[in-house]
Amino acid sequence: MPNATVPDATVRFSVGILGTGWVGASVAMSVLHAGFAGELLLSDLRAELAEGEAMDLAHGAAFYPAATVRAAPFDELLATNALVIAAGRGGKPGESRLDLLRDNARVMRDVGARLRDYRGLVVVVTNPVDVLTYVVAESSGLPVERVIGTGTMLDSARLRQAIGEALHVAPHSVHAHVVGEHGDSEVVLWSSAWVGGRPLRQWPGWTREREAPMAEQVRRAAYEIIRRKGATNHAIGLVTAALLRSSARGERRVQTVSRVQRGALGLHDVALSLPTIVDTGGAVEVVAPELAPEERAALERSADVLRDAIRSIA
Ligand code: 2OP
Repeated sequence: MPNATVPDATVRFSVGILGTGWVGASVAMSVLHAGFAGELLLSDLRAELAEGEAMDLAHGAAFYPAATVRAAPFDELLATNALVIAAGRGGKPGESRLDLLRDNARVMRDVGARLRDYRGLVVVVTNPVDVLTYVVAESSGLPVERVIGTGTMLDSARLRQAIGEALHVAPHSVHAHVVGEHGDSEVVLWSSAWVGGRPLRQWPGWTREREAPMAEQVRRAAYEIIRRKGATNHAIGLVTAALLRSSARGERRVQTVSRVQRGALGLHDVALSLPTIVDTGGAVEVVAPELAPEERAALERSADVLRDAIRSIA
């Protein structure tokens, strides 16, 4: 008789990754190291690319927690517990995320239409991530909490790193959020940033003059990296794996992820990031932050930018 306290080792959490370019490959690596997935399936229109990545990653199996990796056609990904969408092209130097919109929206509509009966969690990574999260949620018809965009989780990570570096404190001890669009109109919530149990604005040596340049540094981070190496991939890989782990393990961490909003802070019919509890059911509960008046106005502007982008592809 099976011991009820020991999880059934034959039931493995499986993750599919659609699109195995720079970002998909980094997501794969981070997922394997994170240890929550027993099976990883890689799929790409360029089948040989997915095969090559799967072979390369499988050869490292002695150095990450037990998991199998293989290339698979898209249809096999429909039986996974979580599906990461990293397909589509990336940004070119100097191009804004919204410039990418038309090309990638077309791809996402096709993918979404094939996900109508999908039972797992969908994580959209492809940019512009907020608009594409909206497109996938709409074209798949899945519950909005099960179609998550990585959104500003990456920008919040960049902010925590920058604040941590400035104060000589580990980023893990910095609680600070970037909300709204993952892009030029994103909003840093300085008024609710805390470090080690103390409001950031009361931290010795912190002055408000430091805020605008740091917000700009976070906002421009991707442009700076793309200008130097042509893409960003490592941090988004780590972010995506952390998000998947939160859901797989039912950790109920609060993450700034993007989803179609249904009334939080009065926002509707737009996908953008707000602090949200991530559980086995996905981005289940938005934790509406307290906003200073200027933050509230900036969030409204960010929502308007995204609504315009959604309208532009309707
Ligand atoms: C990033 O922010 C390009 O969205 C990507 O790194």
